[in-house]
Amino acid sequence: MTDSIKIDILRYRPESDNEPVWQSYDVPFTNEMSLLEALAYIKDELDPTLSYRWSCRMAICGSCGMMVNGVPKLGCKTFLRDYKNGMKVEALANFPIERDLVVDMSDFIEKLEAIKPYIINDNPRALEDGCHTQSPKQMAQYKQFSMCINCGLCYAACPQYGLDKSFTGPAALALLHRYNQDSRDAGKAERMKIVNAEEGAWGCTFVGYCSKVCPKDVDPAAAIQLGKVDSAKDYVIAMFKPGE
Ligand code: SF4
Ligand code: FES
Repeated sequence: MTDSIKIDILRYRPESDNEPVWQSYDVPFTNEMSLLEALAYIKDELDPTLSYRWSCRMAICGSCGMMVNGVPKLGCKTFLRDYKNGMKVEALANFPIERDLVVDMSDFIEKLEAIKPYIINDNPRALEDGCHTQSPKQMAQYKQFSMCINCGLCYAACPQYGLDKSFTGPAALALLHRYNQDSRDAGKAERMKIVNAEEGAWGCTFVGYCSKVCPKDVDPAAAIQLGKVDSAKDYVIAMFKPGE
């Protein structure tokens, strides 16, 4: 039975470090302990200068994304028992490091905002019209794409976003698809400008790793490919019916 585990963390304290440096910690091991709990142990008992983000501790808030042995993971959904030989923990890839495991997600947030992540309807229903109901079939069109917790793991996994930060990226394109598929929404034409752009769906080279790392089983790679189908339809319509 292992009674402790070695956790290497890539530290970056901008006031004293010119570049990130590795630091090792020995943490008491239990089968139930998550990486997030291990980081809390380090901060409380070994080194109060360690910085990391967290909130819900249950894979809901999306705050605790980090690289574990090179793979994007949620700290609260990663358990020491799966890394008995030790783990290397670093800030989420493809984002600028602010401090230790804290990254600057401004670009990601701007991309989410840009796709107009809300129901667009030029003719809102009056109160007396009652609820705008949807059938289970209509809801199934978008439900899985609405499960995203904005953790950014898919951006850390995306080689295309790593190469070119103008690429709209997996979660934003999946969220866009979610609203385009919603029977209550009328904003598809507006959002398709983002899908059709060079940095939109066609920027994706279909590596598919984004969907593999998603902790909520959203399938952003599928959403992007469906976006390409919509985009191709737009192209054909524009060819035969210019102006529509
Ligand atoms: S699609 Fe998945 S991996 Fe990407 S931000 Fe949403 S929950 Fe995270
Ligand atoms: S702490 Fe909220 S997702 Fe991990």
